[in-house]
Amino acid sequence: MKKEIENLLNDQVRYEANASMHYLAMASWADVKGYNGVSEFFYANSEEERVHMIKLVKFINERGGNALIPALTAPKKDFHSLNELFEEFLSSEIFVTQKINEIIFECLSHKDYNTHNFMQWYVSEQLEEEAQARTMLDKLNIIGNDKTGHYMFDRDIMTFVKAAEQDV
Ligand code: FEO
Repeated sequence: MKKEIENLLNDQVRYEANASMHYLAMASWADVKGYNGVSEFFYANSEEERVHMIKLVKFINERGGNALIPALTAPKKDFHSLNELFEEFLSSEIFVTQKINEIIFECLSHKDYNTHNFMQWYVSEQLEEEAQARTMLDKLNIIGNDKTGHYMFDRDIMTFVKAAEQDV
């Protein structure tokens, strides 16, 4: 594997690790605030990002590179609202998508079709995660500051998380 691609993949390991920590902090905040559904949603997403990270680590090593395990950076821990959580979720996913697109661009310019093929899984994941973040943010924007609305939103997310767990 070309060094340029290896470096980009190692950067991606770090982005996925950061996303995992960011979502873990969100899960913990929601847990303390009593939003059990939102909390379970972000615990699950934190775990998913960790899976994304490990998949990259294994791929880099299998292709003869050296995966670099990044140091943990403390994520932001205080949030003001559910809207803020989901806005950050969406912007984090948009950032990750941009980075994945950059890797894909480099794969094509270096004719690394193997890594290009591997990265297609991430493209589909990103589509799904961005769409999910946008849908949830749209719902929250409709709800506004209504506490009953937040209660129902949290309950619906719990139902969504439980259904997703059964699909696995
Ligand atoms: Fe693995 Fe959603 O970024």
